[in-house]
Amino acid sequence: MINVSKIKKGIVLDHIEAGKAKVIYTALKLDQVKDPVVIMQSIPSTAMGKKDLIKIETDFELDYTVLGLIAPRTTVNFVEGGERVKKVRLELPKEVEGVMQCKNPRCISNIEKVKDHKFTLANAETEEYRCEYCDSLTKYNE
Ligand code: CTP
Ligand code: ZN
Repeated sequence: MINVSKIKKGIVLDHIEAGKAKVIYTALKLDQVKDPVVIMQSIPSTAMGKKDLIKIETDFELDYTVLGLIAPRTTVNFVEGGERVKKVRLELPKEVEGVMQCKNPRCISNIEKVKDHKFTLANAETEEYRCEYCDSLTKYNE
């Protein structure tokens, strides 16, 4: 078992799909956090084979929509006084606003600037989202 010191206060993102920690680090702009951030990659996991993990030793407002889009199986552990006080399992968001782009080049959203572009989850298995303007299906980061 790999041992990394427990944190006093902050957030532990556990059960991140292996390889996604760096994507999360960039998308959540964790480089702007002034407190310690620890990224662990390719940790052996009985349930997942391999997993990534991120520890953020800070009070940090997480963007759960973006996190859920990138790594829907993530467990968010809130730590206070050295103890885990809350655990939240993420899931794919049903709706996202302003974080996805339509992959249909003829979609109005790719011709004119649209504000708060909304997508609705169309297929949880394939993780496809439906564009509110043209109904075509798009996956996040594809
Ligand atoms: N953790 C930490 N600092 C703490 C408490 C917990 O860094 N003060 C980390 C643990 O190392 C672990 C994660 O937070 O990676 C979840 O902690 P915990 O719920 O105690 O572990 P498990 O019960 O093993 O988690 P799970 O059941 O989700 O696998
Ligand atoms: Zn569209």
